[in-house]
Amino acid sequence: MTKGFRNITGTFDILPDRYTSDGSTVESSGAWRYVERRICDVMARYGFREIRTPIFEPTELIARGVGQLTDIVSKEMFTFERGDTNYALRPELTAPVMRAYLQHHLDQRGGVQKLFYMGPCFRAERPQKGRYRQFHQFGAEIMGTDDARSDAETIALMMEIYRVLGLKQFKLRLNSLGDEHSRPKYREALTKYFEPYANDLSQTSRQRLQSNPLRILDTKIERERELLSGAPTLLEFIDDDSRKHYESVKACLDDLGIVFEEDPFLVRGLDYYTRTAYELESPNVGAQSALAGGGRYDLLAMEVGNDTPVPAVGFAAGFERLFLALAAEGVTFPDSDSVEVFIVALGDRAQQWAFGEAVRLRAHGLSVAYDLRGRSMKAQMREANRQGAAKVVIVGDDELDVGIAILRDMDTGDQGSVELSAIRDALK
Ligand code: HAM
Repeated sequence: MTKGFRNITGTFDILPDRYTSDGSTVESSGAWRYVERRICDVMARYGFREIRTPIFEPTELIARGVGQLTDIVSKEMFTFERGDTNYALRPELTAPVMRAYLQHHLDQRGGVQKLFYMGPCFRAERPQKGRYRQFHQFGAEIMGTDDARSDAETIALMMEIYRVLGLKQFKLRLNSLGDEHSRPKYREALTKYFEPYANDLSQTSRQRLQSNPLRILDTKIERERELLSGAPTLLEFIDDDSRKHYESVKACLDDLGIVFEEDPFLVRGLDYYTRTAYELESPNVGAQSALAGGGRYDLLAMEVGNDTPVPAVGFAAGFERLFLALAAEGVTFPDSDSVEVFIVALGDRAQQWAFGEAVRLRAHGLSVAYDLRGRSMKAQMREANRQGAAKVVIVGDDELDVGIAILRDMDTGDQGSVELSAIRDALK
């Protein structure tokens, strides 16, 4: 297209049919809905209820929640001003969900809150396969308990969703980040370890050495990964309670037979985590290997203004990477919406009848389509096929005059005539 508008780079349209553009495939809206429904089913089985929050929030909430020094807040936020308030398109939902939890006093609704969500998020990252500027997450949060079983339950829920959808190739990595007291000690040890190698580090890592040395652990650079093998690990610095908590989470996962790999260098790109941190990886989503990630964030409530901590844990996952991983493993899903009945009409009067009959049959609960362009019988039959119609009603002006139509079963190929007044019963 030379003239006119295009969608913004890093975003995409979801169309009724799957399509490929610039080398990436976007699944049909039917496939999205199918996956969303399966996710909702699993969430319901696990006792999670849906929460929907606005797609924009005060920038301050996200900055304080996710952390000023994170890439997300320092480089990737879409922000705008209106009056004297600065807003951000949400880059994630954990901070917004915590805001809603505190604002609506959900802690007073009795028991623990188990919440799930799905919807668009926005990060101004450099777009590439599996990485977009508008992407879609589903996620779940358990708020109001620090019981290790709740950490394990969010992991079990996440794994169950991928199992139900048919994903087989993945790796679950697990770590504990300790509490707010262990982190500064570890940061110090890490800085001390890396300082002699400062000249070998990339510019990004050198900056991180000053601002946030834990982020160096995330490096993908081979030379830096080698250096990591001699680096101190967080586990050497965590407090006894965090260690016990970590052991309990692992025991719960063992109980459920969930296979995981302990990764002492697993750190997450958001600053609110304490204790449990985890990530699910797929070998099939390119450089962006994380399908989902999560962990415990007991101090987030205080970061966003609450006087006391709210123990909480959860995860979020990307739909786009899920689709990439499923496609790579050859998993397919119903990708378009098929109709039950297609009316093929030939002649002006028959076409007018088809129009009215379609609406009448739809009122009785059937999904019905017909041709809106007065095309040939062959073209209409092709369209019926394309739309996946199970039954086709064929009428011409002559049939209309004698009050009958032909009813064809598209699976068996059987066909016979029916009276127009009996069509509805015949279709049931
Ligand atoms: P996160 O690791 O930043 O965690 O994002 C979770 C998932 O969102 C990633 O694993 C990935 O699948 C997807 N994702 C992130 N950025 C992009 C992008 N630019 N393009 C495509 N997909 C992307 C969080 O957001 C936390 N709120 C998770 C959490 C919930 N922690 C506790 N509760």
